[in-house]
Amino acid sequence: MIDQEGALPPCNFVIFGATGNLATIKLFPALYRLELAGRLPEVLNFVAFGRRAFDDAGWRDYVRDLLVERCQAAGEPLERFVARFDYVRGDQADPAAYEALKATLAKPKLGVCSHVVFYLAIKPGDFPAVVKNLDKAGLNRPRGLHRIVVEKPFGTDIESAQVLNELLHRHFDESQIFRIDHYMGKETVQNLLVFRFANTLIEPLWNRNYIDHVQITVAEAVGIEKRADYYDKAGALRDMLQNHLMQLLTLVAMEPPAALEADAMRDEKVKVLRCIRPIPKRSVHAHAFRAQYKAGSVAGAQVQGYQDEPGVEPDSVTETYVAAKFYIDNWRWRGVPFYLRTGKRLKEPMSMIALRLRHPPQQLFRETPLEALEPNWIVLSIQPNESMHMELHAKQPGLGMNTHVIRLNASYRGEDEHPLDAYEALLLDVIEGDHTLFIRFDEVEWAWRVVDPILKYWVQERDFIHTYPAGGWGPLEANRLFDAEETEWRNRV
Ligand code: BG6
Repeated sequence: MIDQEGALPPCNFVIFGATGNLATIKLFPALYRLELAGRLPEVLNFVAFGRRAFDDAGWRDYVRDLLVERCQAAGEPLERFVARFDYVRGDQADPAAYEALKATLAKPKLGVCSHVVFYLAIKPGDFPAVVKNLDKAGLNRPRGLHRIVVEKPFGTDIESAQVLNELLHRHFDESQIFRIDHYMGKETVQNLLVFRFANTLIEPLWNRNYIDHVQITVAEAVGIEKRADYYDKAGALRDMLQNHLMQLLTLVAMEPPAALEADAMRDEKVKVLRCIRPIPKRSVHAHAFRAQYKAGSVAGAQVQGYQDEPGVEPDSVTETYVAAKFYIDNWRWRGVPFYLRTGKRLKEPMSMIALRLRHPPQQLFRETPLEALEPNWIVLSIQPNESMHMELHAKQPGLGMNTHVIRLNASYRGEDEHPLDAYEALLLDVIEGDHTLFIRFDEVEWAWRVVDPILKYWVQERDFIHTYPAGGWGPLEANRLFDAEETEWRNRV
């Protein structure tokens, strides 16, 4: 909680998995950028917990080198940041290590902090041991002040998610739990709420009367990046669609919340998920499509196929691409298909939400060169550049009846302004104790319920998967999901 002067409370921030991928690539750079921006509380101590043999000084050198390399960090802010760290060496599964952690948290510099955040940047399989050991050491108390941050994936299906949730609730109250989905921290995603709910111009269009269909795309050029161990068991549906894309869908489709506060927002998101038409087993083919990348060329470089990636089973049928169609059976959206797709090793990184509007009811320009007028679009680009625009038709100046598409551009960042990383916003929210952008368990549960029929069906079909060459826009067969023949994937912002 922020005090009356707006200052953040003194806080200890413990990172499990401090030498892992997530901490290295996302957490430390994001925390450092917050330091640079002067956004970290004056008294904020980091405690890195890991198995590798470091003492405090050695660990600070390690973080310093990492930030110099990744963020070109230097000077006083870097030293201030690095000095915030202590290191606790220990095995997550060993209760004795938590006594060492407790002793570190009691050191004079750290003991003044009433709040402690435990960030689990670790494999989901290790969650139970950490949660139980924190409890055993009494580190989950006092309940109001100590928080735990859990990364996705939250379970691998609805049952395992429920088991994980029960475990968390045995040792922590809901108010202490922060389930993170970093897509909620992306600027365009948050700006979507402003775009929708702060502009009366938009609201009348945002429904089945004007929107023909919605496309949500998260295309990645990268492959699985040494994560075969996790990815080959997960696949794109669990890794991306059940969480990141589903979150985007709820924000596009939700009703205005009663207030911009955590539970009001999350109530509206859950309502959307509950209205998604369940997919019966016999219709999975018509609603979902999966495929896997073969060798190809991405940005001019030859890349290997998924089955040849180190650590992947040679006959794996894990999907690296998934496309799905959902209907939201409520007053606003009934009959409007939401097409979601995501894939690795596609042509280029591109994430966006695109809403295609209906054709005008009268073909007034049929006898003119404008016969095949493209419908209007509203496009919100998330990556690589953040932008928002509407595509409209306007007459070209001159005698003929010729038109061109113009863009009403609502982009909000100058080319020289550095975009915020999603983690920056979310980490600050954890320190402040603001749950608004974090996921409540019923959201997780409903999202699993939506994708569960697809997962169950695919588990039975283990001997075949479609393929697509790396470096393209994915398999053409995914077009079979479209309701209308004229519909195509939008592959440009
Ligand atoms: C993660 C997935 O949650 O999100 C990765 O596990 C994926 O497979 C990543 O690459 C994408 O995040 P971003 O922010 O780069 O779009």
